[in-house]
Amino acid sequence: MKTPSGSARSEGPRPLAGLAAPPPRQRSLKRSQELKAEAERLIPSCSQTFSKGPTQFVQGVAPVFLARGQGSHVWDVDGNEYVDYPMALGPIILGHNYPAVTAAVIRQVQEGTAFSLPHPLEVELARLLVELIPCAQMVRFGKNGSDATSGAVRVARAYTGRDIIACCGYHGWQDWYIGTTTRSKGVPKAVQALTVPFQYNDSASLERIFAQHPGQVAAVIMEPVGVVEPEPGFLQAVQQLARREGALLIFDEIITGFRLALGGAQEYYGVVPDLACVGKAMANGLPIAAVVGRREVMELFDEVFFSFTFGGEAISLAASLATINEMRQKNVIGALWAMGGRLKDGYNALAAELGVGRYTECIGLAPRTVVTFKDETGAESLLLKSLFQQECLKRGVLFSGNHNVCYSHSDADIQHTLGAYRAAMEVLAEAIKAGDAAQRLEGEPVQPVFRRA
Ligand SMILES: Cc1ncc(COP(=O)(O)O)c(C=O)c1O
Repeated sequence: MKTPSGSARSEGPRPLAGLAAPPPRQRSLKRSQELKAEAERLIPSCSQTFSKGPTQFVQGVAPVFLARGQGSHVWDVDGNEYVDYPMALGPIILGHNYPAVTAAVIRQVQEGTAFSLPHPLEVELARLLVELIPCAQMVRFGKNGSDATSGAVRVARAYTGRDIIACCGYHGWQDWYIGTTTRSKGVPKAVQALTVPFQYNDSASLERIFAQHPGQVAAVIMEPVGVVEPEPGFLQAVQQLARREGALLIFDEIITGFRLALGGAQEYYGVVPDLACVGKAMANGLPIAAVVGRREVMELFDEVFFSFTFGGEAISLAASLATINEMRQKNVIGALWAMGGRLKDGYNALAAELGVGRYTECIGLAPRTVVTFKDETGAESLLLKSLFQQECLKRGVLFSGNHNVCYSHSDADIQHTLGAYRAAMEVLAEAIKAGDAAQRLEGEPVQPVFRRA
């Protein structure tokens, strides 16, 4: 297993004695509430993205609208400041309003944003991705991660002449994938039947799909790593199975790309797929994604329809080049491993110290960690998660259950956050002891986005 250059791997919990637990801040959420009331009339779900909507934050305690970001901090529409951890669900890898990216964006806006012929930046960025991502020989750009995963699936079907897709992880909002989850309303049954999920770290569950659909599986698409690390040999076993069965292997690196390593999880784990999808972090918050992969497969995009008005929009291309170049020059990846590791170790040390390690844990690879909450029985507890979130929000930490650390997160941020976590965990510990978490909650608990059907 490869450690990205300069990275500081997490080395177990460090002592946190003396870390201050800040008191709750006085905040008004008046403007957020006013806008929410209007949004409820105008915008279904009040949001364009499920994970940003009111169901994911304790209403009455959480801001509903954010107005501004700078570095690792954001301000809500009432002027309250928070250390940001969702980071726009992952894209903000350098920081909000990061100077090198902002300058590139402004330059490009002044030169023109979208054109009627391709722009040279398309070639420049494609060249860079081919240099950095192990499987990349050719590149096509999209806007959202779902463009990339859906394009990869379509080209795999075209290449193999087969229809069935085996998937593992989350792959976006399109019919072919979302039909496998509980959010499948509106997806035709015939489409649902063509995608079959398998279990992570369980290659036998993938073998069963091949056995049930002999000669019909076009591709295995998977997040190479989520919060659980691959067991030794698992990714290689999946690759061998796909090869043996004549299916393509697609790594969905929408989260892992430009986060675990510049070349993504395929560089980190040394397993190279046929195709890969990148998005999120590649332009520090500007909308761009890409399908990359083996020439022989990618060339089929000459015939496979993958085309949209904003496909080669120039601002995001410029932002992506500026972002990736900055990441290369500054060893951003190393910083993400170091900061994320401190946060993870700090969280788990606090949980151990306060006796709640059974109920909550920070897991995953340091550049993106997830915090789990469980009840007495070991089942996921959205109630405890909500209570913890509530206490973090009151202390200036925007907590949604994961840490997408960015290059602008500072030692002071981590120190402040761990102080807020101590205070929130003290409340959690008291609530668990008294069995009164629900009574301590000052709003509706958060809800799951979806579950696997
Ligand atoms: C692993 C993974 N794949 C695909 C997607 C879809 O990307 P988008 O929401 O940009 O369409 C996401 C989004 O969260 C993701 O995490």
